[in-house]
Formats: sequence, C-alpha cells, structure tokens
Amino acid sequence: MSDVSSALSLCEVEPSAPHHETQVGPARPPRILAIANQKGGVGKTTTAINLGTALAAIGEDVLIIDLDPQANASTGLGIDRRSRRYSTYDVMTGETMLREAIIPTAVPRLHLAPSTLDLAGLELEVGQEQDRAFRLRHALAPLVEPAPHRADFTYILVDCPPSLNLLTVNAMAAAHALLVPLQCEFFALEGLSQLLKTVDTVRAQLNPELTIHGVVLTMYDSRNNLSGQVVADVREFMGRKVYDTVIPRNVRVSEAPSYGKPVLVYDLKCSGSEAYLRLATEVIQREKELCVG
Ligand SMILES: Nc1ncnc2c1ncn2[C@@H]1O[C@H](COP(=O)(O)OP(=O)(O)O)[C@@H](O)[C@H]1O
Ligand SMILES: [Mg+2]
Repeated sequence: MSDVSSALSLCEVEPSAPHHETQVGPARPPRILAIANQKGGVGKTTTAINLGTALAAIGEDVLIIDLDPQANASTGLGIDRRSRRYSTYDVMTGETMLREAIIPTAVPRLHLAPSTLDLAGLELEVGQEQDRAFRLRHALAPLVEPAPHRADFTYILVDCPPSLNLLTVNAMAAAHALLVPLQCEFFALEGLSQLLKTVDTVRAQLNPELTIHGVVLTMYDSRNNLSGQVVADVREFMGRKVYDTVIPRNVRVSEAPSYGKPVLVYDLKCSGSEAYLRLATEVIQREKELCVG
C-alpha cells in the first residue's frame, strides 16, 4: 500500500482525537493560505477539502477554516450541523477561541473549524468595529505564534465565501498567501482583475506580506476546445503564478461531498484525486521556493 492509501485507509475508522491532545506536532509555524475568488462555483470549497486532504495524506497537519456561511466545506467533510458546537461565527464575534471550534475529521491529520449560517450576519454585527478586518488574524494568533516545542498545524486553509466581503477581507488580512481557483470556462478571467485590485488594497492597508501563492485551473474538460483556450489565456495573463497541475472535471469529485467525504477518500484512484495529490506536492514545492527565495 502506498503512503497515501495507507494514510487514507485510516479514514474508515473513527475520527481521531484532536491532534494537539495526542501527539507532539511540528515545530514550524503554520502557513496560512486563503482560497479565494469572488465568483461562486469555481471550485474553492472543493479545493479546500481536497487539497487539505491531499496535504494531510502526505504528512502535513492541516486545518481548514470554513469562512463561508453556506458551510459547504463543513458538510462536504461529513460534519453535520449538530456536531458544530462552536463555529467560525462564534470565533469571529469573539465569543469563542478558535481552538474551541476546531474538530477532527475522519481524515487523519485533517481538522476543521466549521461554519454555520449565522456567519452571514457577521458584517452587521461587527461592521462598525475598529478591528473588524482583523478578527480572523487575531483568532489565529495563538496558533501562529511560534510555540517553543510544537505548532498544531503546518497548513491552514481558509475557504472563503463567493464575495469580496468582510469575511474574505478577514481571510486576506490573516493569510500569508492567496490560492485562487479559476474555472476553465469562458469568463474565467473576468473578475480576476477586481480580485487582484482587492489584494493590492489589502496589501496597502491591512497585510503588506500578502502574496499570490498560485492560480489553480479547475474543472478542465479535455473534450472541450474552450477549456484548452482558457488554460492558454490564463497562463499568458498570470504566467508562472499558474500551477502546472490542472484539475480535470471529474464526476467523482462532484459526487464525493454528498457522501460527506473528500474525493480522495471516496475514490483515491480517480483523475480528480490524482490531480489534487499533484497539486499538494506542487504547493509544498512552491512553499520551499518561497522560503528560500
Ligand atoms: N473538478 C471538478 N469536477 C467536477 N465537479 C466539480 C469539480 N470541482 C468542483 N466541482 C463541482 O462544482 C460545484 C462548485 O464547486 P465548489 O467547490 O462548491 O465551488 P465554490 O466553493 O467556488 O463555490 C460543486 O457542485 C462541485 O462539486
Ligand atoms: Mg464554496
């Protein structure tokens, strides 16, 4: 059995206890990646779930923060509403520490801070507060500050809502870098300049360190000429920022969430799972390059 399938085969057993209670974790502080694009349906949540699972399968300790009131990442990981004792809403309003909201998933080394629909009302509640854009950054601080012996996670992926609203701005203000899924369709590049403008504003006002980690092309259909053209256009526009890995359109990827499973657990051998494993390797490789250069 490969490392990956042996890691994932554990998914059939009971969810593990929270990582930080059972073992000594990694020493380096986590990298925080916001998965953002203000368009809906481009593959943000699918990428959060499956890149998170793939990173965990190859040995990383991963936390997914569900920052979308639709809570698709929470549902897609099989966490039902009753198991969400505390949610990112409680965290963002300051009612609860992030650590309290984190729950294990059925995937070893993959944890989740789930969301609930309440999160849709956050802007009304904290929209006038001075620290409104830094709620997530402050909540993450205890997990990010260098611990003398261990950190809990090596990667924190933030699944953003389909809007450039206060939640997305919080994710950008807290993240080291942005990972942008773009769907291989005619309007793929539309909206990208608005997203990049928002990144510039966030950099200028909230988070000078923010970078674009990469653009991942999703739902590529090899039978469709348009898909190939979109890949070429996006590569021309974004250059080396575009990951080599392209995620194919694959029915197994879209079926998996209805079983509350990442596609890597639902069908490890399908083309979607293989692509997300390649993407995870590429993300880690790019991290190494960013740290060196
Ligand atoms: N590679 C893929 N192949 C097939 N369906 C996909 C793929 N990626 C995403 N989908 C489907 O497309 C829809 C939108 O994806 P999702 O990740 O929820 O987008 P977003 O979070 O950006 O709104 C979902 O129904 C999802 O299952
Ligand atoms: Mg989503």
